[in-house]
Amino acid sequence: MQNTIISPSILSADFACLGEEIRRIDDAGADWIHVDVMDGHFVPNLTIGPNVIKALRTHTKKPFDVHLMISPVDAFIEAYVDAGADLITVHAEAGPHLHRTLQLIRSLGVKAGVALNPATPWQVVEPVIHDIDLILVMSVNPGFGGQKFIPGQLDKIAALRGLIDGCGADVVLEVDGGVNADTAGDVLAAGATALVAGTAVFTGGPSAYASNIAGLRAALSSADAAD
Ligand code: DX5
Ligand code: ZN
Repeated sequence: MQNTIISPSILSADFACLGEEIRRIDDAGADWIHVDVMDGHFVPNLTIGPNVIKALRTHTKKPFDVHLMISPVDAFIEAYVDAGADLITVHAEAGPHLHRTLQLIRSLGVKAGVALNPATPWQVVEPVIHDIDLILVMSVNPGFGGQKFIPGQLDKIAALRGLIDGCGADVVLEVDGGVNADTAGDVLAAGATALVAGTAVFTGGPSAYASNIAGLRAALSSADAAD
């Protein structure tokens, strides 16, 4: 089967040296770089904006998987494209016109994703399934790293796997929040094709990044073999 994408969330990185941290996770085997953007309004935390992302862009060639936890969102999309995002994910609740937002993202030449909060039904993406490149299932409430995986989201992941396969859409199914070597196997078995991991990648400091990513890949391989 296709290799699962691992997208470390730099929310758990050392913000005093983000460029170096990105080079380290690139070397450690990250497939994508997950960038969490928070506005202190849609979620109760604040992180970084497009200027920082632009500055980080020179530190890796790996795709920037930009998760926008901001509302309203439309007015800011272009700035994130200019900053170097390869994929922009917006929350289903981020604006009144999800389809329009997705059209805007794709019209600017980048991939478009929709994020679903734990209480958001999976059916929200059904009408736009052919207008997206990725679905991001939040397995914690957005806003903070280091939270515990919500097991009830596994059914949602499985339902979305059914939706994607049923209509033959080319959509990545990514899961974000509390993903570690203990939960990754269940997430894979439910049908995910990409994992975001913050705490699980950055715990232990730079010397542990490669073994942390390898540990996630090993958990995925044993879950795959047990399948
Ligand atoms: C939460 C963010 C996640 C978070 C994941 O709002 O979207 O990307 O950083 O962190 P862990 O892996 O620590 O749950
Ligand atoms: Zn995220």
